[in-house]
Amino acid sequence: MRHLLDTTDLSLEEIDTMIATAMDIIENKDKYAHICDGKKLATLFFEPSTRTRLSFEAAMMELGGNVLGFSEAASSSASKGESVEDTVRMVSCYADIIAMRHPLEGAPRVASFKSSVPIINAGDGGHSHPTQTLTDLLTIYREKGRFDNLTIGLCGDLKFGRTVHSLIKAMCRYKNVKFVLISPKELSVPDYIKSDVLDKSGHPYEEVEKMELVMDKLDILYMTRIQRERFFSEDEYLKHKDAFVLDLKKLENAKSDLTIMHPLPRVNEIATEVDDDPRAKYFVQALNGKYIRMALIKTLLEWGGII
Ligand code: CP
Repeated sequence: MRHLLDTTDLSLEEIDTMIATAMDIIENKDKYAHICDGKKLATLFFEPSTRTRLSFEAAMMELGGNVLGFSEAASSSASKGESVEDTVRMVSCYADIIAMRHPLEGAPRVASFKSSVPIINAGDGGHSHPTQTLTDLLTIYREKGRFDNLTIGLCGDLKFGRTVHSLIKAMCRYKNVKFVLISPKELSVPDYIKSDVLDKSGHPYEEVEKMELVMDKLDILYMTRIQRERFFSEDEYLKHKDAFVLDLKKLENAKSDLTIMHPLPRVNEIATEVDDDPRAKYFVQALNGKYIRMALIKTLLEWGGII
């Protein structure tokens, strides 16, 4: 049995196969409509979510399976003090696979030690969000047709943005990928990502504080929200909340085939006028999340001998 706790749990070949499965699901939905008949997905969300939880649930339903779970810790026995270990030990008696989001970094890994079914990390604190990264990879593949020879700008809260950390780890496995890290100094990529991932892999990166300075060289612009819930004080959040707002003027020098991505939710870091620009792909990206999660559920259940 395998879990998905971090994107690097998957080999490049496994990611390629998962992307190919998602592409086949997009083309041939009927073929997959009953592969999870009689199986159950539990969504244990100790933190708020719209896209991840609902796309997981839609994914399982479109595979013929059923879903159960909770959308906030307050409606589970965690509010009475039950540990993650005990919660998961119980839920793995009720479901065939579990998607779990938790504010504590490493909580899904702890859960995996006690679970008798596959655990999927649906986001743990500021650490990692591997199914968002698979979503991002499917989006990059559909838009660019490749993962190598790309210049990727990552903009916003690069300190707390777990989607950014996961995507850098994933893209550092491909050749000739350059990173442009666009953030205020206080919200720059954590040192461990620079030393253990970027420096170790030898991928070039530069850090800038203004997106206008680098817009013309980007193939992908990955915008992120300032993560209000992870700041220690409201004043600190307010200082940074409008640090970057992408609008049509800032896109004047951008490539005509730029791909604009955002894991969403958006607060105000992309003006709504950008939504109609053909380069804006963030809503397609959210749809891709359902297809790649269908491919992931199928793959983990097959690896576990459950389907
Ligand atoms: N992208 C993402 O994780 O969105 P949700 O928080 O709505 O799940």
